[in-house]
Amino acid sequence: MPDGLKTFRIGDVEIDFPVLLAPLAGYSDLPYRQLCRDLGAPFCATEMMLDRCLLVKPRKPQYISRSDDDDHPIAGQIVGNEPETMAAAAELLDRRGFDVIDLNFACPVRKALRRRRGGHLMSDPRLAVKITRAVIAAAGPRPVTLKLRRSFDESNREHDEFWQIAEGAFDAGAAAICLHARSVEVKYSGPADWEFIASVKQRFGEKTIIGSGDIMTAPDAVDMFARTGVDAVSVARGSLGNPWFFRQWRDLADGREMYVPTLAEQKEVIADHFRRTELFYGERRATKNMRKFGIKYARMHPTPKKLRMAFVAVKNARDWFAVLDNFYT
Ligand SMILES: Cc1cc2nc3c(=O)[nH]c(=O)nc-3n(C[C@H](O)[C@H](O)[C@H](O)COP(=O)(O)O)c2cc1C
Repeated sequence: MPDGLKTFRIGDVEIDFPVLLAPLAGYSDLPYRQLCRDLGAPFCATEMMLDRCLLVKPRKPQYISRSDDDDHPIAGQIVGNEPETMAAAAELLDRRGFDVIDLNFACPVRKALRRRRGGHLMSDPRLAVKITRAVIAAAGPRPVTLKLRRSFDESNREHDEFWQIAEGAFDAGAAAICLHARSVEVKYSGPADWEFIASVKQRFGEKTIIGSGDIMTAPDAVDMFARTGVDAVSVARGSLGNPWFFRQWRDLADGREMYVPTLAEQKEVIADHFRRTELFYGERRATKNMRKFGIKYARMHPTPKKLRMAFVAVKNARDWFAVLDNFYT
């Protein structure tokens, strides 16, 4: 891996390694980000946060927007459709010390689209650029980045809206674009279009372009760099159940053999993940959250089906550690 690929910048934020933890709704909370950082992730993002929710005085703890001193550099991702409220939310994240403000114009979930948020903005370039301008004006010195899909629907083979948003955003001073190279319409089906990612990097040569889509293993990340020339890659599903991903990528980049955790090492990290999550949310909510992660961790185990069923049946912390004792020895 050439040296030049090892550090990159988002605005004035220098990142020592170009493999990032993607925003992951329901997963990329503070405990998971801290775990990934301990295992080598150099930069993480929150899951998308609705601008209006950030701005109201919370009645319950707002776990979603919590960060900590050891959780930097961090992007706070916001979603919404009004320039004023998006700008106000960005101002708030700036005051709270988020290093980067990321705008979600990519989410394909039906509820977001119905409310004209997230991926809906891929069909409304004028509004997307207006929001971007308002946020950049409000975010002070914080770099602003965009998460985009390649188009709204499959019929648009020229990706006109993508180019309009990307050009408008860079003209307005956006620091980077992260591109998940599928249309909003297909959500996650079919392969991500890495050729399109390469053409975006080619067109915006000196700008920071982050590639997303189908990096499931550390060698896939190496492949994406080689095939697209992006400045960094963002890893989502490939990290779930394999937070060692970041260490593995660092191994490959340094020409070492890729680290593969033993069952005992997996047990230690999965136990640590539970403890952090329990400390953050309390036992009840931690147990519920960790069941989802358990299903992902099971993929690496020699008896994945049995383990998955055992994780799903967990009711409390004691059950969780009993499953680890049963399966990871
Ligand atoms: C469960 C899940 C939640 C996601 N949540 C977000 C989100 O909150 N914000 C966002 O920009 N992308 C979100 N994404 C998209 C990912 O960040 C990423 O762009 C996409 O999954 C493609 O990358 P991958 O092939 O590495 O998974 C989510 C994806 C998944 C699977």
